[in-house]
Amino acid sequence: MPTTTTNKEINSAKADMSHIYGHPDPRNYFRELQKVDYRIPELAKPVFTTLIQHLEERKNAPVHALDVGCSYGVNAALLKHDLKMDDLYARWTDPALDAATPEQMTDADRRFFSALPVANSAAIYGLDPSSPAISYGENTGLLDRGMAVNLEEDELSDVAADTLAPVDLVMSTGCVGYVTEISFAKMIPAFAEGRLPWMANFVLRMFPFDPIVNELGKHGYVTEKLEGEQFIQRAFASAEEQEGVLDKLKAQGLDSSGESEGNLIAEFYLSRPAQDATVPLRELATT
Ligand SMILES: C[S@@+](CC[C@H](N)C(=O)[O-])C[C@H]1O[C@@H](n2cnc3c(N)ncnc32)[C@H](O)[C@@H]1O
Repeated sequence: MPTTTTNKEINSAKADMSHIYGHPDPRNYFRELQKVDYRIPELAKPVFTTLIQHLEERKNAPVHALDVGCSYGVNAALLKHDLKMDDLYARWTDPALDAATPEQMTDADRRFFSALPVANSAAIYGLDPSSPAISYGENTGLLDRGMAVNLEEDELSDVAADTLAPVDLVMSTGCVGYVTEISFAKMIPAFAEGRLPWMANFVLRMFPFDPIVNELGKHGYVTEKLEGEQFIQRAFASAEEQEGVLDKLKAQGLDSSGESEGNLIAEFYLSRPAQDATVPLRELATT
């Protein structure tokens, strides 16, 4: 069965949140996510920060990181401004901001973020099919560049390919499952020759990651999983969702201890060009 079909099947067990991805600002998204205590970007932050620092030292220049499935630039906000998810929840569910139009919210957020100290010198690019989310990310300055494209279905434009060329690190949270090896296969030819980016993906364990590992392997990548570490993505939205996900995990013969306790669990995979895989993963994946 093609991965897209399998993932669609597995996704059917998850609560459908796609209606919150396309608003012109993150308030609806965050109101919904708060109900399920969505927190994977915060757990991913120390790992992404260490990887960015490591790549910056190797390169001796600022890093370009691409957040795949970036939505409004949540990872960018946490990384650039040293914020926590609670800071973002406090802002984007603040009743005092309920009456703001999306334009007013975007303007206010541009001022809010630009007044904060910059904690990370990486340029952060974002790719997501949601044009409103990408526009918000660019207009607030959270994303240095954005690409509104769905590579599962569409081709990479020449402009997007140029944007990808300098990328040193591809990262994602909460996105694999929507994104499969199809998107990775389309991105790889755009990366600058001889300097393929590292790829750091937090993946819900019910989604098979092997097809992406195999696709990357064709281009000389080795992928390692951070063994023994579980990252809570969020709580289940309902008992029905939990039951459906437990069924999917059991059908694949996977550990479901964290999910039995009420949370969707992600695991971390680092993919590096074979010649770059010298420093052990555990030293880089500081949690
Ligand atoms: C659960 S949200 C995660 C957003 C963000 N990474 C975070 O952790 O807050 C999933 C994101 O994947 C995006 N997405 C869905 N299909 C995608 C695709 N084909 N390519 C890239 N992103 C996609 C959605 O638009 C949404 O922004």
